[in-house]
Formats: sequence, structure tokens, C-alpha cells
Amino acid sequence: MRLAGKRALMIGAATGIGQAAALAFAANGAGIVVADINLPAADGTVAAAAGDAGHASALACDVRDEHSVRDAVATAEARMGGLDTLVVFAGLQRLGHAEGFAAADWDAVFDVNARGTFFAAKYAAPALRRAGGGSIITTSSLAGLRGAPGMTGYAAAKGAVIAFTVALAQELAPDNIRVNSVLPGWIDTPFNNPAIALMGGVEAHGEVVRRIVPLGRQGTPDEVAPIYVFLASEESRYITAKQMMVDGGMAH
Ligand SMILES: NC(=O)c1ccc[n+]([C@@H]2O[C@H](COP(=O)([O-])OP(=O)(O)OC[C@H]3O[C@@H](n4cnc5c(N)ncnc54)[C@H](O)[C@@H]3O)[C@@H](O)[C@H]2O)c1
Repeated sequence: MRLAGKRALMIGAATGIGQAAALAFAANGAGIVVADINLPAADGTVAAAAGDAGHASALACDVRDEHSVRDAVATAEARMGGLDTLVVFAGLQRLGHAEGFAAADWDAVFDVNARGTFFAAKYAAPALRRAGGGSIITTSSLAGLRGAPGMTGYAAAKGAVIAFTVALAQELAPDNIRVNSVLPGWIDTPFNNPAIALMGGVEAHGEVVRRIVPLGRQGTPDEVAPIYVFLASEESRYITAKQMMVDGGMAH
């Protein structure tokens, strides 16, 4: 029950890493509102979390739409009687080498990953301040630090998330609001299917993973979830403006 009494808005937590984190938050006693563009899946996550101590509910939210994000924050704060934690998982990947990359794809990855994170933090910060402080956790990627061929647009957008996180942490520190980013490496979710196809299929991808990941395999969403629990908990109260890599040792 490391999050007993915490009230968390988790945006993009309907599936994958976010879903695993939402279940871990609920299991640790947090109230959760799962906001996602995929409402049926968000409902499924909430149903799976049901029975744990705190509030659990879902709502529809599209991080590309500023008003939708503003309304999601207001609804989450009203439903739970306050907000202590914002976690943003919403992400989009578009692949292709820079020379052939379409402007529309560049805009799409920035809209969801970078602009969406900005909107979420913009509206959650006053709510966290009203609660006397709290924790904002963004989701970047190892690609946002190290890049990878075919991922220039996605890497740039995730790099923007890191820079935003570090700047925001300095703005909000006086209000006792901590801001950190999680940087997953290769985590086994369908999100990566296009990247795996670009790399030549499952076999070729597996070979690359065995070569570049010291632990020799992809991670699972359950193996990333605990870092979000830690960053939302009081155990991390002296940690802000950080990039937390969960990557099997890939960055070393
Ligand atoms: N899987 C990996 O290897 C990996 C690695 C590094 C970073 N990440 C990041 O982790 C996060 C979660 O990825 P995942 O692998 O769990 O994939 P996922 O597709 O399961 O999760 C993405 C979630 O974001 C939601 N979403 C997408 N667009 C949205 C929008 N416009 N508004 C609201 N919600 C939206 C989706 O419905 C989904 O629930 C993403 O930000 C991704 O970039 C994943």
C-alpha cells in the first residue's frame, strides 16, 4: 500500500505499460482515473483494478485536444476530491528515415507525445498545487536520449518530452511538485510492431535485442510499472528532474 491516499490521473493507461502501472497503482492503494482515447480499453483496465482500495474510473480523453485534456483533469480532480499525481503514457510512433519522413508524420508524433504531455502538465499543475504538492511523471523513451535509425521523428518528440520535464521540474519545485520522466527501452507491447517490421521481423529484432540489451531480452510492462509507483510515492520525495531508464542495461 505504498500509494494509500494518493489520487492519480493516468493518461494513456488503457493498454500496455500504462495499464500495468494503473493496476500497480490500484494494488498499492491509489485512487485512479484512467483517461484514454480508447475508452473501452480504459474501462477494461478499471474493471481489472476493481476491488482494490481506492476510487477507479475511466474517461475518454484525446491528448491532441487541449479542451479534452483540461476537462479530463477537472473531472479527475472532482471525482477523487483532489489530485496528487499525474502520469502520462499516451504515445504515438511513426517510423521512417528523415529524408523520406512526411511533415504530417512529424506533426503527429509531436502532437501526441510532446504537445499532449504539455497539455496534461499545464492543467494538472494547478490541481496538484491545490493539493499541496505532488508528482508528475512523463513517459519518454530511450530513443529520446539515444535515437535510433528510422526513429528520428519519434526520437525528437520524446527528446522534447525530456527537455520539457526537466524545465517543468524547476518551475514547479517551489510548489513541492516533482516532475520526472520514465524512459523505457524495448518493452514487449504491440506498440513496437511497426518498428519490429521495419527491422526485418521478429527474428531479426530478437537478434538485435540479444546483442544490444545486456539482460538479453525485452522487458515486460510489469517490469516498468514499479518505477512509476516509486516516483508517485513518498519514497521518491527528494527525486525530481530525472530520467529513469528501464531498459535492461541498454544505456550504459
Ligand atoms: N513499448 C516500448 O518498447 C516503449 C519504449 C519506449 C517508450 N514507450 C512509451 O511508453 C508509452 C506507452 O507505450 P506502450 O508500449 O504501452 O503502448 P500502448 O499503445 O499500449 O500505449 C499507448 C497508450 O496511449 C493511448 N493513446 C494514444 N494516443 C492517444 C491520444 N491521442 N490521447 C490519449 N491517449 C492516447 C493508447 O490508447 C494507449 O492506451 C508510450 O508513450 C510509448 O511511446 C514504449
